[in-house]
Amino acid sequence: MSPRVFSGMQPTADSLHLGNYLGALVQWVALQETHDTIYAVVDLHALNEHPEPEALRRRTRATAAQFLAAGVDPARSLLFVQSHVPQHAELAWVLGGFTGFGEASRMTQFKDKSAKQGERGTNVALFTYPVLMAADILLYDAEAVPVGEDQRQHLELTRDLAQRVNASYGDIFTVPEPHIIKATAKIYDLQDPSSKMSKSGGPGGIIEILDEPKVISKRIRSAVTDAETEVRFDERLKPGLANLLTIYSALSGRSISDIEDDFAGKGYGDFKGALADVVVEFLAPIREAALGWIESPDKLDSVLADGAEKARMIAQGTLERVYDALGVVRPAH
Ligand code: TYM
Repeated sequence: MSPRVFSGMQPTADSLHLGNYLGALVQWVALQETHDTIYAVVDLHALNEHPEPEALRRRTRATAAQFLAAGVDPARSLLFVQSHVPQHAELAWVLGGFTGFGEASRMTQFKDKSAKQGERGTNVALFTYPVLMAADILLYDAEAVPVGEDQRQHLELTRDLAQRVNASYGDIFTVPEPHIIKATAKIYDLQDPSSKMSKSGGPGGIIEILDEPKVISKRIRSAVTDAETEVRFDERLKPGLANLLTIYSALSGRSISDIEDDFAGKGYGDFKGALADVVVEFLAPIREAALGWIESPDKLDSVLADGAEKARMIAQGTLERVYDALGVVRPAH
């Protein structure tokens, strides 16, 4: 059997953005060639923000629709919604017993969000969020987890938990490796190139997969650059431009130095215009296919139900293994 891959994305926005796409989704699609791939819309992870019920329903389906539109193929990958496989929550509970309070407190995403929200605005699910993420991965014996750089620390925790349980109870979990592609592991906000592109950033700084072409062009044309004019990749001195070059290279398949050569002697205006065309052209078919899936919710729900059925079988097998090892008595029938 091919090595297993698991990854997930939260349904916290109506559209995924270019960071989600380049940081992770491109890899999800590519790994289908070589791996046994399992992907989920991790809706339980999104509950700690108390989304509007209608928004959560819409976003859960829209997120799955974008996976399919980007090339996740249900004939080759299991695609499902996390809450349809209750074993995720069950294993998270078990793993919670192996996670140190201090260890969970040190997760930078938790520290950043809880600092912003204050003690009153911070709930326990935000704190235990990485434990649920570990459960997602360990349930499927994933060997590789394709994600962006911002998830590296959560994967370290997942590895530590797997090793800790294995050390006490035998070889129960597969210890996963992060699959992070350096060049596109962190796509930055177009208005603030010192921050990652994020669903919670200002709208001017992100490019959404489902954005209208004219919105995409406008955002690229107003992206923050620097006072120079030369199109040259320099992450330290020209972080805004370096980010745009990264996007250009990733979507066109051309090397950064080729692109620099093309724009030698030309200014940022020409470069941004050409980049806007590249992005619009690249995203147009994905957007169209995603909207097609969004307009056929029955078909979409059926794909997700098939995926969940198969995922539950695998997940239950792992959970039985864990319960047996821990001495949890299973029902006789
Ligand atoms: P989420 O939903 O925030 O993001 C989905 C994926 O997109 C990547 N990403 C980025 N990559 C590059 N540049 C960016 N600016 C950028 N922004 C986001 C993320 O790294 C991620 O791969 N905790 C996860 C979801 C999750 C998960 C899992 C992932 C839950 N369980 C199990 C892998 C395995 C998260 O919040 O991703």
